[in-house]
Amino acid sequence: MIPNVDPDSIVYLNGEYLRLGDARISVLDRGFIFGDGIYEVVPAYGRKPFRMDGHLARLERSLASIKINVGWQRGDWEKLVVGMLDRVPFETSMAYLQVTRGVAKRDHAFPAQATPTVFCMVSAFERPGAALREQGIAVISVPDLRWLHCEIKSVSLLGNVLAKQQAVDAGVDEVVQFRDGYLSEGASCNVWVVKNGTLLAPLRNNLILEGIRYRLLEELAQAAGIRFESRRISQQEVEQADELMLTSATKEVLPVVKYNGKPVGAGRPGPVYAKLRAGYDQAVASL
Ligand SMILES: Cc1ncc(COP(=O)(O)O)c(C=O)c1O
Repeated sequence: MIPNVDPDSIVYLNGEYLRLGDARISVLDRGFIFGDGIYEVVPAYGRKPFRMDGHLARLERSLASIKINVGWQRGDWEKLVVGMLDRVPFETSMAYLQVTRGVAKRDHAFPAQATPTVFCMVSAFERPGAALREQGIAVISVPDLRWLHCEIKSVSLLGNVLAKQQAVDAGVDEVVQFRDGYLSEGASCNVWVVKNGTLLAPLRNNLILEGIRYRLLEELAQAAGIRFESRRISQQEVEQADELMLTSATKEVLPVVKYNGKPVGAGRPGPVYAKLRAGYDQAVASL
């Protein structure tokens, strides 16, 4: 028994729908041996996937960038996600997709012949509640020690895992990572800064994973008349922010009220957050 995991839930593995408790992969799978694979997480509300196009486009980009060819079209991925959402009892959920280079004799170079492993599971997702939305969360800053291809949603997540554990050890909710003195992102989320009414985000490049909420927040800012700038953001600017917030599929948009033990701005969720939060809820409600 694995704590908090239902062995009877249905998962998809290489063309079959199986009980999670019965799904097996080889110890020679390159996902296990090398972390040689990618993943994606698609949230669903009222059983409807949210921003699925963006998520599947990113999945295709991740696959192409590490040269895994599953031979699937966009419609095949959509069918898999929607089919899985139909098979679970949850109204609000997360579809997790993972693709690895497949099973082969252990050797770093790509195998001449291997069939990619395709896996999908859906878990219940509890949206961030009133306490988190209204009271906000605390973060600490840490150096970004990850590799230089953070734009790929790779299952090789050791850097992110170690970063997140630093947050847990410090008794806070997340870390904010900096590379060479400039903001990159959280361990599993994007980070946003508000200064003088302008919403700032780090550049979309190889140093961050461009969240599907990155474009969404840009759109919501535009709709709400909030100025938006994407540029390098120094550590000092983060320390002196009027507001800070985080976005991800599971966090949605959350306000940061404490940074390295000090209050952010007035120490409570700010007005830019409130507008973006309202826009996010509206986007979910109008699915
Ligand atoms: C490192 C990292 N950055 C950013 C994000 C946010 O991406 P999204 O908004 O698509 O969930 C995630 C999400 O898991 C992540 O792991």
